[in-house]
Amino acid sequence: MTNGKLERVTRAVYPGSFDPPTKGHLDVIERAAGCFGELIVAIVVNPQKRAPMFSLEERETMLKASVARVGGGVRVEHFRGLLADYVKAAKADVIVKGLRVVSDFESEMSAAMMNRSLSDVDTLFLMADHEYSFVSSSLVKEVFFLGGDVAALVPEPVLRVMVEKRNSLQRR
Ligand code: PNS
Repeated sequence: MTNGKLERVTRAVYPGSFDPPTKGHLDVIERAAGCFGELIVAIVVNPQKRAPMFSLEERETMLKASVARVGGGVRVEHFRGLLADYVKAAKADVIVKGLRVVSDFESEMSAAMMNRSLSDVDTLFLMADHEYSFVSSSLVKEVFFLGGDVAALVPEPVLRVMVEKRNSLQRR
């Protein structure tokens, strides 16, 4: 360890849909930025599970504005296709994933093993603060678009884009 940073591991990739980014994501980004020399926050362009509500451009805008205050060593990129191919091309040393609750671990464990078998890159897990254990992008979207208050759950720049999105959808 030098200055609290892991010496052998330098470049980490934190992948996700970030549809939208939450304070839980930002908490993991801050923790990972404190561990690794370089952190790439990588937005998957087309998530497999469901089509994103926010465009790639919107997700990039929200993330870039949110990580701006985290400081040096963090950058936002995007990727298509397999995460394993992306981390190899990015010459990443490690994949970082956030865990909120024990049940997250089940699917994350098989994803980590699959990614390691495809790329030889290991996944390290960081626990988000327990304050965010119930916060997910899908719940945040549902609550917000049904009129609930999510201001405490998303970074301020994210809330601004969400309000713009809601206004533009209401104008249609
Ligand atoms: O924020 P999410 O939706 O939980 O992120 C999921 C993500 C982007 C990490 C995952 O869907 C992914 O890695 N997608 C890229 C396609 C891929 O590599 N699939 C195999 C994963 S083992």
